[in-house]
Amino acid sequence: MKQKEILLFGATGQIGRNLVRILSKNNYKITAVTRNIHRAGYILKTQANPGYLKLVELKKFDLDKIDSLIKSCSICVNLIGILYEKKKDHFKIIHTDFPNLLSQKAHEHKIDKFIHLSSLGIESAIDSEYAKSKINGEKKIVKNFSNSIILKPSIVYSVDDNFTTNFMKLLSRLPVMPLYYNGETKFSPIHVLDLVNIINDLIIKDNNNLILECIGPDTLSFKEIILKLLKSIGKKRILIPLPYAIAKLSAKFFQSFPNPLLTEDQLKLLKYDNIKSGIYKTNYDLGFKTVRKFDEEIMKYSYNWRTGGQFSKPDNIQNL
Ligand SMILES: NC(=O)c1ccc[n+]([C@@H]2O[C@H](COP(=O)([O-])OP(=O)(O)OC[C@H]3O[C@@H](n4cnc5c(N)ncnc54)[C@H](OP(=O)(O)O)[C@@H]3O)[C@@H](O)[C@H]2O)c1
Repeated sequence: MKQKEILLFGATGQIGRNLVRILSKNNYKITAVTRNIHRAGYILKTQANPGYLKLVELKKFDLDKIDSLIKSCSICVNLIGILYEKKKDHFKIIHTDFPNLLSQKAHEHKIDKFIHLSSLGIESAIDSEYAKSKINGEKKIVKNFSNSIILKPSIVYSVDDNFTTNFMKLLSRLPVMPLYYNGETKFSPIHVLDLVNIINDLIIKDNNNLILECIGPDTLSFKEIILKLLKSIGKKRILIPLPYAIAKLSAKFFQSFPNPLLTEDQLKLLKYDNIKSGIYKTNYDLGFKTVRKFDEEIMKYSYNWRTGGQFSKPDNIQNL
C-alpha cells in the first residue's frame, strides 16, 4: 500500500504539535508548513524515523507553492487559526479565504481527503466576527470538496495549552477573578490527546464528507472550570461576576496589548454555550469516546502553580 503523505498547515500549534507526534509514531510521512522553520524545528518533537518529517517554510500564502504542496500529498490537514486579528491577519483571510483555497486545490488535485479544524458553538454566535469567519470557511469547504472532514472541537486543553495554563497562572497571582456572564457559559473541554486520536482514526477510516463536533466527557460551566482549576492549584480566590458594561470596557483595554487576554469579539463569543449543538454528529455518535476527564488531567500538570511546585502535597489540595 502506498504510504500516505500528510500535509499539515499549522503544525506548530497546540493541536499540531500533538498530532505530529502521533502521526510520526504511526509512520506517516509528514510535511509540516510553517512561517518560521527555525522556530518550528525547535518546537516540534517527533518519534519519526529520519526523513519522515519535512519542514517547509511559507512566509505568506503563496499560491504556486501551496499548489505544488497539495499536488504531492494524499491528505491535507489545516490547523491554522487565530483568536484575534492583527494588522495583516484578518479572520476572513485565515478562517474563510485560506480554507477555501485549500479545499479548491484539494478538489483540483483529487487528494484522498482534506481535514479542517473549525470550532464548536459558533452557529448561534452571530455577532462574533471570529464565529462568522469560521462558519463561512466551513461553507466554502463543503461546497468545494466532498472528501472533506470538518472537526469542531470545544476548548482543547493540555499541559501545553493557552487556556488552563494561562488561567492557572492568573489564578495563582490575582486575589480576585472576574466571571463573565456570571460564569454560566457551558463548555465540553476535550483533551488534546483525545482530539488527535480522533484525527488519526479519521485519517485511517473511510469517513469523508463529514462535519463532526468534538467534545470531552464533561460539561462544565466557566465558573465550574475556574473552581476546578483553583482546587487543583490549591488556592482560594474571590470570584466576581462582572457586569457586561465593565466586561466590555476591560476587553477594550486588554485588546490594545500585543497578545490580549481578552478581546471584545472573544467577549461576544463567551456569551454562547460551547457544547454539542444537536445539528451535527459528535465523536460519541461515531464511537470515538473521549476518555480523559478534566479534573484528572489538569491534576497532572497543575503542580506548576501550587505553592511548593513539584514538592507540593496533593493530599492538602483534596482537603481545601
Ligand atoms: N485550541 C483550542 O482550544 C481550539 C478550540 C476550537 C478550535 N480550534 C481550532 O483548531 C485549530 C488549531 O488550533 P491550535 O490551538 O492548535 O492553534 P494555535 O496553537 O493557535 O496554532 C495555530 C497555528 O497556525 C499558524 N498560524 C497562525 N497565524 C497564522 C498566519 N497568519 N498565517 C499562517 N499561519 C498562521 C501557526 O503556525 P506557524 O507559526 O508555525 O506558522 C500556529 O502554530 C485552529 O483553527 C483553531 O481555531 C482550537
